[in-house]
Amino acid sequence: MCGIIGVIGDDPLAALLDGLSRLEYRGYDSVGVAVLAGGELWRIRAAGGGALVDLRSRVGKGELFEPSSSLTPGRSRGLPPGELVAAAGIGHTRWATHGAPTEQNAHPHSGCTGRIALAHNGIIENHRELAARLQASGHTFTSDTDTEVLVHLLEENEDGDGLAASMRRALRTVQGTFAIVAVSISDPDVIVAARRVSPLIVGIGVDRASGYVASDLPALLGRADCFYSLEDDQVAEVGAGSFVVTGLSGEPATPHELKSKWTLEDSEKAGYETFMEKEMAEQPDAISDTLRSRLRPDGFALLDDGLASAGERASALATAAYLDTIERITILACGSSLYAAMAARPAFETWANVPTDVEIASEYRYRSLAADARTLAIAMSQSGETTDTLQAARAVLGRGLPLLAVTNVVGSSLSREAQAVCYTRAGPEIGVAATKTLTTQIAILQLLAAELGQRRRVLDRGDVARISGSLARLPALVGKALAHHDEVREVAARIGQARDFFYLGRGVGYPVALEGALKLKEIAYVHAEGYPAGEMKHGPIACFEPGTVVVAVATRGPLWEKMMGNIAEARARRVTMVVVCEEGDRETAEVADEVLTVPSAPDPLTSPVIDVIAMQLLAYEIARGKGLDVDRPRNLAKTVTVE
Ligand code: M6R
Repeated sequence: MCGIIGVIGDDPLAALLDGLSRLEYRGYDSVGVAVLAGGELWRIRAAGGGALVDLRSRVGKGELFEPSSSLTPGRSRGLPPGELVAAAGIGHTRWATHGAPTEQNAHPHSGCTGRIALAHNGIIENHRELAARLQASGHTFTSDTDTEVLVHLLEENEDGDGLAASMRRALRTVQGTFAIVAVSISDPDVIVAARRVSPLIVGIGVDRASGYVASDLPALLGRADCFYSLEDDQVAEVGAGSFVVTGLSGEPATPHELKSKWTLEDSEKAGYETFMEKEMAEQPDAISDTLRSRLRPDGFALLDDGLASAGERASALATAAYLDTIERITILACGSSLYAAMAARPAFETWANVPTDVEIASEYRYRSLAADARTLAIAMSQSGETTDTLQAARAVLGRGLPLLAVTNVVGSSLSREAQAVCYTRAGPEIGVAATKTLTTQIAILQLLAAELGQRRRVLDRGDVARISGSLARLPALVGKALAHHDEVREVAARIGQARDFFYLGRGVGYPVALEGALKLKEIAYVHAEGYPAGEMKHGPIACFEPGTVVVAVATRGPLWEKMMGNIAEARARRVTMVVVCEEGDRETAEVADEVLTVPSAPDPLTSPVIDVIAMQLLAYEIARGKGLDVDRPRNLAKTVTVE
């Protein structure tokens, strides 16, 4: 969950601070950097809201302290601005797991000598046992983190043969998950990185004279242009413009080269006030990119494209013969990805005639599976790093079943472990709230459903042309939905102070309701429940009273009349009724206190991609009205790498 960066060459301090500001979405409880300069190690850390801003201003004032001095009372001293000429450094932005989000617990950690600094993402499962052993041999711990044990282990394993060698020896005793970056006064020409499960990327600078390590690509865009993803239990020694990778026994190893098309501009706000606003606005283009070259007048080409990108591993899935044998689809996902899968499920069932289950990944991995070789398992995760989804995917792979990954991140763990991968091509999403990744996920699954329907001859040529036309219109229709932003802002101003929100929908409107409620909880911290409208009368309606806001998805799908009945039942309890309805639909608008207008979907099955825009805008405006930081909501992180 945390963000990690390491830099050697270039201007390390500037590159670290810049990289950290682009990694804040990974976690923002606390932040810290450590740099090697003038034969010493300097560290600064900050915790709490605005930690990075605080840290930047302190760095500007020259408040850097060498850890060795700060461990000895009375010896710590600051360094005046400009005096620090760093050769290498590491930085970290934290989402707390072990230990409160305090400065003491912030990374980088240094050990007893203050000669090594280390930052870590992941969880060291045997940290207690290791700490007990280290304490017995004289090490003193100063934080409540599991991470600190790593830096003491490095000290313990120093043998005059370099930091990477100490790292390899140390990691042989470690259980758990990690992405690590470390620097040492004794080995100033390298930064050393290692990975097990938690992702870590090595980058070579555009100037060919700098080396980088980061947990995520956006931190390096603009500075590096060759990227490699470390595999599990690989250790990288990164110098200025080159690197060497070995396994834990010192054997040469090869990292995975990443071929990403993301650019620096993709990861900047580009004049928008927030990343979320920018990413919502990017949805028409993102969906166009998702569909590009995969949607043809005579059909769909997702499988050829998506499966080919997985190379040899695709063989099991790529054959038409295999796809023709599929009797069931199971989609594994979490959070918004789960709701995207639910929104696409009817397309698999209607267009491809394949029964489809959507499973909460964190629950699925602990169930005894009913799936067999005729079930196509799809694991979907925008980041491709969500532990719950990865572990569910591994449960599928562990049973020898084929797995298709749907993800937005090229080279992510999920994309590398599955036999085949389809990329959503949404570009980097920095805001914690999923927006463009969600709509592109729905679009890509619907493409897959249509392609399966075509292959399996469920769809005739007329159907193919109609569905292809409906999908092709999505970018423009999403653009029209976004054009209602000002109206949504006014609605948000009138209802934004309510305490309880219920989001209701039926059929494909139900996952839209779930996503609406999730967005409101996530960025506006307002209690909200998403419910299938037909279930309302089985319990939740007891909570309805004046002041309760009910947001009903009432676009003109086949269940519209049923939905109108549910709206009437809710209105009878004098709730504030907000409806999502189509432009020009006065009949639906008349039953509402407030209206969120969206354009009509040419095919009701594609309506979630359009209707969900109103949900995003409403949550966004309610959160902004409360003065909240929508890009970095409290307690959350963009990529959830803990169970
Ligand atoms: O990276 P993933 O798609 O696997 O993430 C899954 C969820 O953590 C994610 O969708 C989360 O619910 C979003 N922040 C919601 O906006």
